[in-house]
Amino acid sequence: MNEISVSATSPSNIAIVKYWGKHGNQLPNNPSISFTLSRCHTQTHIKATPNAQQNYNLSFLFEGQPSPKFQEKIEKYLVDNQQYFGFLKGLDLEVESSNSFPHSSGIASSAASMSALVLCLLQIEKAVNSDVTPIDMRKASMLARLASGSAARSVFPVMALWGATHSVPDSSDQYAVPLTDIVNPVFKTYHDSIMIVSNKEKSVSSRVGHSLMNGHPLAEKRYATARENTERLLKVIKTGDLEGFIEIAEAEALQLHEMMATSTPPYKLIEPNTLSIIDSVRKFRQQTKIPVCFTLDAGPNVHLLYPEASVAAVKELIESELLKYCHENRWIDDVVMNNEIK
Ligand code: PMV
Repeated sequence: MNEISVSATSPSNIAIVKYWGKHGNQLPNNPSISFTLSRCHTQTHIKATPNAQQNYNLSFLFEGQPSPKFQEKIEKYLVDNQQYFGFLKGLDLEVESSNSFPHSSGIASSAASMSALVLCLLQIEKAVNSDVTPIDMRKASMLARLASGSAARSVFPVMALWGATHSVPDSSDQYAVPLTDIVNPVFKTYHDSIMIVSNKEKSVSSRVGHSLMNGHPLAEKRYATARENTERLLKVIKTGDLEGFIEIAEAEALQLHEMMATSTPPYKLIEPNTLSIIDSVRKFRQQTKIPVCFTLDAGPNVHLLYPEASVAAVKELIESELLKYCHENRWIDDVVMNNEIK
């Protein structure tokens, strides 16, 4: 066999209904729905060279530099899930990865990096076993989920649903499904402007955050609300109901951080400037009726979500009101991915 060289680009995503709490082998305690982004992505390249051994060796460079932490994460992933990666036997893997967004933007997109890695690995499988064509995107989503739950949703454009819910018959806890066919055109034009409140690595990882949902006094109520919000959001994204969207997105974001504030031990990832941005956005919406809303990831940065028709008004809001709350006036101007992922 000759050397195999593969590349994949995979985006980050922003959840509207949040996945927070898991069980078993990376299975979600409630369904989640996200927008797939287009400008925040990871590009990964793997060179696979046949060796004379029965095993594989791996080297990893992130933006041209060795990254022992990430290398260890990939090695552990491949060992834990070796039943899916038999085709890597006898190959040396040189993995190189880079992000489109700056390192120190406080955006640690494991969704983008792990889904890009999986898409590369599946291309290697396809090259090794010529009968595996084309790449099965459900399998890609399932393997991405095993690396990082939210990564399951990044392999599909526009919007994806991960987790079984009754109104979508092929939905599953094992993998995400694309919602492209049901999404109202207005949501395909959505922008996500990310206000960088802090560029520091978060003090409590998502891994620890998920585990603090076990035994959390509000956990069952939270999962029930997320299930209801999933069903509501599915209707809203079909009909293009922007008010319904705003209500769900903001309630979900605040509930995620409420879970953190009421866990044992409690913790807080939002900062005073996060709240100042939220207040400004709500005030602006009330005054102008421009349908801009916010969501939050597990961190202090604020994602502003709004349709294409509101771009000029929101840009004016960002520049005149919000940049002063951002670290070094930084923000990332992203939009929903509206074409096929390569
Ligand atoms: O995929 P993880 O384990 O990093 O968890 C992601 C959790 C949130 O980003 C807070 C919510 C979500 O659904 O993406």
